Amino acid sequence: MKFTASCAELSGLKADSLVLPTGSELENSAETINQWANNIISSAILSGEFSGKSGQVLVLNLPESAIKRLILLGTDGLTNQRQVKKAVTAACAALNKTKSKTALWLEGGIADTIEAEASIVAQSINASLYNYKKYNGDIKPSLELLTFLTSDKSVTSAVDAGLLYGAAVGDGMNTAKQLGNLPANICTPSYLADQAVTLGKKKLNKASITTEILDRSDMQKLKMGSLLSVAEGSEEPPKLIVMNYQGTDASKKPIVLVGKAVTFDSGGISLKPGRGMDEMKYDMCGGASVLGVMNTLTQLELPINVVGIIPATENMPNGRATKPGDVVTSMSGQTIEILNTDAEGRLILCDSLTYAAKFDPETVIDIATLTGAVISALGKVASGVLSNDQQLANDLIESGTQSADPVWQLPLWEEYDELLKSNFADMANIGGPQAGTITAGCFLARYAKDYKWAHLDVAGTAWVSGANKGATGRPVPLLMAYIRQKSEANRD
Ligand code: BES
Ligand code: MN
Ligand code: ZN
Repeated sequence: MKFTASCAELSGLKADSLVLPTGSELENSAETINQWANNIISSAILSGEFSGKSGQVLVLNLPESAIKRLILLGTDGLTNQRQVKKAVTAACAALNKTKSKTALWLEGGIADTIEAEASIVAQSINASLYNYKKYNGDIKPSLELLTFLTSDKSVTSAVDAGLLYGAAVGDGMNTAKQLGNLPANICTPSYLADQAVTLGKKKLNKASITTEILDRSDMQKLKMGSLLSVAEGSEEPPKLIVMNYQGTDASKKPIVLVGKAVTFDSGGISLKPGRGMDEMKYDMCGGASVLGVMNTLTQLELPINVVGIIPATENMPNGRATKPGDVVTSMSGQTIEILNTDAEGRLILCDSLTYAAKFDPETVIDIATLTGAVISALGKVASGVLSNDQQLANDLIESGTQSADPVWQLPLWEEYDELLKSNFADMANIGGPQAGTITAGCFLARYAKDYKWAHLDVAGTAWVSGANKGATGRPVPLLMAYIRQKSEANRD
């Protein structure tokens, strides 16, 4: 899929489809096109077929014209980036349905800047071309070229930058989606490690990327007793994947991303109920989003250093599995009474957070499908964010708004932390039935005291259930918006 910017006159152009964002009042190019196409748009508005309301899509064929069809996209009442993304996504879906090979997208002034608009279009196109079955196969999607049209020559470089960025974010989302959607008998910890190694071999121009895989014996040497206790009940060997992307001076402190990758969460001895258990193959989506970000970074080669740490394991019950009441010692030396083996995410993250300190991080962000409770609190709209640094939380909230991949903050107060009290260890791994997302965050905070840290609970946002069951690629747009923002300061 190729993207390009152009400010050519519409009259000289050929394409299978032209996407035209417009409200019910036809302005400038919309009016020009309307006249040139025998009032086809104003007639559709008069007849009520097209209202111009935000997100409405209407496909109009233009027989015997160099542009074979118009795809109208309603823009009236678009008030925030989430609505813009939803509308653009609807137009992309309609465009894909037409099987067009070439498309024109006319600037609609629908985002804060023209660069942001180009970026959201390219991201949505790439993300909407994703198809699980076709992903690795030879059946190619029809669309090959999208030209983003503007009337102003001075902005084409901003459009180019937006297209490049958005396309790379869309590709990163697709990486995360594919890994998330793969069944757990294929997408094992070893499979994820292989994917990371392959990505780490990519030759870059300005930046570099390397991958290191720690196996069980390495984890034993590091005394990662908590992470290892989760892997205990599984036949699949655990892997700790460490990716190091260097896009700027090695002396610059990295952003460290820690992604939970439980390739299947049966609950362990605290076995989950059978209904919907298949969806626990998605319990590695945090780790997949880190691989998605790494893929995007290798395309953009942003001037920033980013370390990705992905603890990957299954959570299974067998004769050697960890039992409720078992006490383990984490790499930090703190002991944990495991009251529920289904609260395993925090057990693999805590040792990864201790390990993260060795990179002398600027900030550490963990991404995890950690609690069902976050779905009760925030549904499928916002991810939860909890942080020991308000500036970092604010940065993530801002990046989430901008990228239409929103997060909402929950508190990490000591009243919640007290719920982790154990009679037999430094802490229990669960805090009881209330405020489950917060007590999980409080647990992690005990391992993140030496640096600025934020936790993203993406249990509600990383995948959708029901007829459209599948991974969403979130929070790759959010993480990339944050990383890109931070990289701006390193530009020369
Ligand atoms: N992976 C789950 C969280 C989850 C649940 C994600 C449902 C998406 C949908 C996590 O490992 C888990 O099992 N959490 C428990 C914690 C509880 C035992 C304290 C939960 O949320 O029920
Ligand atoms: Mn669990
Ligand atoms: Zn889990």
